[in-house]
Amino acid sequence: MADAPVIAIDGPGGSGKGTISRRLALDLGWHWLDSGALYRLTAVAAAIGGVPLTRAADVARVAAGLDVRFVPGAGGDQVLLAGRDVSAEIRSEEAGSGASIVAVMPAVRAALVDRQRAFRRPPGLVADGRDMGTVIFPDASLKVFLTADLAERARRRHKQLSEKGIDVSLAALLRDMAERDERDTARSAAPLR
Ligand code: DC
Repeated sequence: MADAPVIAIDGPGGSGKGTISRRLALDLGWHWLDSGALYRLTAVAAAIGGVPLTRAADVARVAAGLDVRFVPGAGGDQVLLAGRDVSAEIRSEEAGSGASIVAVMPAVRAALVDRQRAFRRPPGLVADGRDMGTVIFPDASLKVFLTADLAERARRRHKQLSEKGIDVSLAALLRDMAERDERDTARSAAPLR
């Protein structure tokens, strides 16, 4: 349904785009696409299926075949992978780092395009992710690039993880996020722009 309007919110991890896009979708009564969840799901599904993240063609097959259901809820979507609740699992740093590796692969990105565009339904869609305004919905009515200092993003992520009882050092997180930024920005397939 190409007629439904789209608000695209692009930007790096930890910038607050997840929180803002979800609240915006709730306020407007629009659909919400957390595109990063699809890359995270691909990494998690590959791990479950024993598919090494070095094998792009196999990982792309995993992405194309994802059996996923998003069940909307006030605090975010519940994510079911083949019926199993992986909502917490896909938010782990491990899934995030796996997602950043598979997101570099053009075949994986291609496998996820139609799935993302299918979220565009009336009355409208708020789409969150690195390439929403550049690649997936280039005709979005509004394109937002939301960012923040690396130190601030690392601090926010650290707080989020601590609240969940996950103990990581701020320094390690900073290093990891800088690496992930570099991978997201330097890659040739749909770089962060
Ligand atoms: O926003 P996030 O942390 O859930 O994203 C996880 C990874 O997936 C991150 O490395 C960037 C990548 N990603 C992407 O390449 N394109 C998107 N539209 C969304 C996420």
